[in-house]
Amino acid sequence: MKRLALLFLLIVACDGPAPSASSALSSSATASAARTGSAAPAGSAEVPESDADPGTLFFKHDGETKRTLIRKELVSAIEPETWRAYDPYYNREKHYRALPLRAVLKLGFPGVKLEAQHFILEALDGYKVPISGKRLLEDGGYIAIRDLEVPGWEPIGQRKANPGPYYVVWRKPTQHDLKTHPRPWQLSVIAISPFEKSYPHTIPTGAGADAQAGFAIFREQCLRCHAINREGGRVGPELNVPKNILEYRPIAQVRAYIQNPLSFRYGNMPANPHLSEKDLDHLVAYFRAMSERKHDPKKDKSAH
Ligand code: HEC
Repeated sequence: MKRLALLFLLIVACDGPAPSASSALSSSATASAARTGSAAPAGSAEVPESDADPGTLFFKHDGETKRTLIRKELVSAIEPETWRAYDPYYNREKHYRALPLRAVLKLGFPGVKLEAQHFILEALDGYKVPISGKRLLEDGGYIAIRDLEVPGWEPIGQRKANPGPYYVVWRKPTQHDLKTHPRPWQLSVIAISPFEKSYPHTIPTGAGADAQAGFAIFREQCLRCHAINREGGRVGPELNVPKNILEYRPIAQVRAYIQNPLSFRYGNMPANPHLSEKDLDHLVAYFRAMSERKHDPKKDKSAH
């Protein structure tokens, strides 16, 4: 099953330009067909257009797919709720039909003591966010299954992606911070895996306190998009192998980039005005520590 996920990522990576806003506005089935290049079954007469995409969600436990649920199965087992709440990505209130995360997790991982687990939410675009079971079980955590304002979903983010078929959202005003309450769109895999098992080579074992502090920031805020030693998200570039970022960029530039990437180029990295000079010292200490801890298992194989 890991292969299948990889295949997905490969297909997505090779897909060329991101769908334009207008194509993203059409049904999620069209968008996902464009993404995978496969001929998605045209919506049969009895399903509304955005249900034509089967919406496959994989539930993995320690690397193995334990369960696969499609949209129809999810909504027949869990009563969808309809509500409005502020969405920080759209910067205004949005109207969603959504399934409580807790119910989805219970359905996907029957009999598992969820609050004690460490999870990873993986999206089709390479975003991969580590998160605790305790956080996922909070009241207010949902998986949006439909945008009730725009048929086929309103495009999201700088790339105007289609967030469907599953978009993680939080309903409460105390859950707007994307660092603590991440909102992966195009959710594809919910995995249970201890951090140490999924990301062993991102840990600066034996390094000093500054590097450890930098690691704490990186783990919470950066790893979801960036890999270190090939472990982590794939939205942004790998930052340690073959070359560590500090080996080809001046430190001052790396610091300035992290704080305000859009002052360098219009891209897809969010700005980090909340990071202090001390935080940046710590991140640099972490990068330096990792430059002495390189691990590249795929070095001899082709790029991906
Ligand atoms: C939402 C995804 C995302 C998050 C979160 C993110 N980045 Fe990035 N980052 C990117 C992307 C994408 C790029 C590539 C350039 C671009 O598009 O701006 C990038 C580029 C970079 C670069 C390379 C700049 C260069 O000189 O080439 C560094 C360093 C970096 N990020 C550090 C960080 C750190 C540290 C954090 C956490 C505080 C972080 N990023 C969080 C997506 C992200």
